[in-house]
Amino acid sequence: MNWAHRHLLGIGHLRREDIFFLLERAGQYRDSLDESPKQKPILAGYSMVNFFLEASTRTRLSFEMAGRLLGMDVLSFSGNASSLEKGESFRDTVRTLSRMKFDVLVVRHQSSGIPEYLSDFLPQHIVNAGDGLREHPTQALLDLLTIQRAFGDFSGITVVIIGDLLHSRVARSLIKGLTMLDCSVLVSGPPTLVPQVVESMGARVVFPVEEALRKADVVYLLRVQKERQEAGYFPSNREYEYFFGLNARHWDMVSERAYIMHPGPVNRGVEIASELVECSRSLIEEQITCGLAVRMAVLETLIRQGR
Ligand code: CP
Repeated sequence: MNWAHRHLLGIGHLRREDIFFLLERAGQYRDSLDESPKQKPILAGYSMVNFFLEASTRTRLSFEMAGRLLGMDVLSFSGNASSLEKGESFRDTVRTLSRMKFDVLVVRHQSSGIPEYLSDFLPQHIVNAGDGLREHPTQALLDLLTIQRAFGDFSGITVVIIGDLLHSRVARSLIKGLTMLDCSVLVSGPPTLVPQVVESMGARVVFPVEEALRKADVVYLLRVQKERQEAGYFPSNREYEYFFGLNARHWDMVSERAYIMHPGPVNRGVEIASELVECSRSLIEEQITCGLAVRMAVLETLIRQGR
């Protein structure tokens, strides 16, 4: 495999063969996570910094765990305990960190484009762990791995993404990945949060939600972001749950072979009924373990093959 990337900045930068390469390696790591011991210290002597300036549980901790399982030294940068609080600029902060000579910088930031910006002047491998409204590539890769393991293949799979497409970096990365692998992608939700422009990425907008659900092999729910309700994109969480949430009425319309996915964190009783989160056709917890496997594959690939 001719891996041509020094960084992982977005799904949009990858080729189809890059995605399949990462999924194959991540699938092997996923299998190994059910064995003991789990450590594969092939990256001993390398180090990474988790540089998260936005809240995270799944992404931050699974990168940390992935690094440790591979034998790396892992540092976590905490913005509110750093000299950013004393007014040091963002650029000076990352240049200071960079001189500590670690190998990989995993970054989450509220501004779109920060990973690209850093990749212009830092010598480290940069991994985008979510930037503003733009991309969340390891989330898309873990979603693809979860789908591949559930169905064995991507051909003929229809993924229905429901929710806030307007503000979702998760959806943006996932649509790019799914369409690259020839899945059909339907999107639906409150019309105020589902812009027609997603059709330029290869997804098809379908209203009402019920029509989309009837075609789903995977129902992928996006988190309702509290600030969107406050901004008036939909009237209330109660109405959201009734019209757009995966409730018992909507679940009855879905094929019996379909699965449920959600990137987390979940608002139980809003975008999904609480009892469906852990039902037998929910892949939500498996997504988390696939996330660890994908992040191991990404770290290994960038360090061993990243140009
Ligand atoms: N899905 C996701 O990115 O979750 P966290 O914000 O907890 O990392």
